[in-house]
Amino acid sequence: MYNVPAMREAATHERILVVDDEEAIREVVCAMLGAAGYDCTPAASGNAALELLDSGEPFELMLSDLMMAEMHGDVLLEHAKLKFPEMPVIMVTAVSDLSVALDAIRDGAYDYIPKPFERELLLDRVRRGLEHRRLRLENLAFQMDLEARVAEQTAELLQKHADLQRANEDLKRSHDMLLEALGDALDLKDAETEGHSKRVTAFTIAIARAMGLPAEEVETIAHGAFLHDFGKMAIRDSVLRKPGPLDPEEIAEMQKHCELGYQMISKIPFLKNAAKIVRAHQERWDGTGYPKGLKGEEIPLGARIFAVADTLDAITSDRPYRSARSYQAAREEIELWSGRQFDPVIVKVFLNMPQSIWENLRAQVKVHSQVFRVPQLAGAGSH
Ligand SMILES: [Fe+2]
Repeated sequence: MYNVPAMREAATHERILVVDDEEAIREVVCAMLGAAGYDCTPAASGNAALELLDSGEPFELMLSDLMMAEMHGDVLLEHAKLKFPEMPVIMVTAVSDLSVALDAIRDGAYDYIPKPFERELLLDRVRRGLEHRRLRLENLAFQMDLEARVAEQTAELLQKHADLQRANEDLKRSHDMLLEALGDALDLKDAETEGHSKRVTAFTIAIARAMGLPAEEVETIAHGAFLHDFGKMAIRDSVLRKPGPLDPEEIAEMQKHCELGYQMISKIPFLKNAAKIVRAHQERWDGTGYPKGLKGEEIPLGARIFAVADTLDAITSDRPYRSARSYQAAREEIELWSGRQFDPVIVKVFLNMPQSIWENLRAQVKVHSQVFRVPQLAGAGSH
């Protein structure tokens, strides 16, 4: 009946399940497909087809009659799609059933072939169905590969991010240790300031946070406050430790500590901005301070906050010539000098803060010798 060698197109060996309850049709279809190089398995009913599918035997495509006595083609389609969503199903149907065939396509059939059909039409639809499946699988594989690569790269990025964070934390710790070492160096030279730098740093951080400054700025301000008197390293002991009052020449030398501190500190890259606070820490709001006589907002914000914190600590700490005064006295004094020595906006923020904060901070700084690791202040940056 058929010229088999001539009709054999490509030896594809793709497996096709042919479902039809008419034996003659099964035979013809299988003969056509077999001759074209496909591996054809006939099934005489929907149930027989399901059994074959359930047995795990793989099929690349299913060709099913639509109108079958025992199990209708669309029921078989529904089952097959559920189990093998990638397997294209082509419905074979009489021309009169075309609307049913279109329904089947809506339900997931890949295509339909109207009966009676020519060999060429059958092979063309089967080829297209198989090509569709191949492209779909390729797409899926590509997508899965892409997802795997994205997941891999995401994991790599997360790892790098974690490494960077760790490195950043290490760096921050190193910075804190350097700051503590600089503070210790000054304490050795000028024992009188011991504790003062740490307390004033704690007070400055508290006010800066109450002002709602961003974390990074609070950190810079904290560094500046902590190192404010570092320039005293360069002041002669005979002047720095002189018990009595300083003469004008000595006062002039002492006042150089702001600029000297700036020069030393600004050479350290992460302290560049903090150094500007060191230089301006003796400036006054009304322009009567030193070294430059800056006025109002010409004075760096950090230095203006520091000025309030510094006075608060000076008044509430013991001095060789007088004992500590109360926080209430400090509040009154600071309020009195608002707009003259101090920035009135900062004074307002300070006055609105509860007094208990200062006593708590003083106690904490006393317990923790390293101010940048005091729990309430740790990460001067964080709110
Ligand atoms: Fe100073």
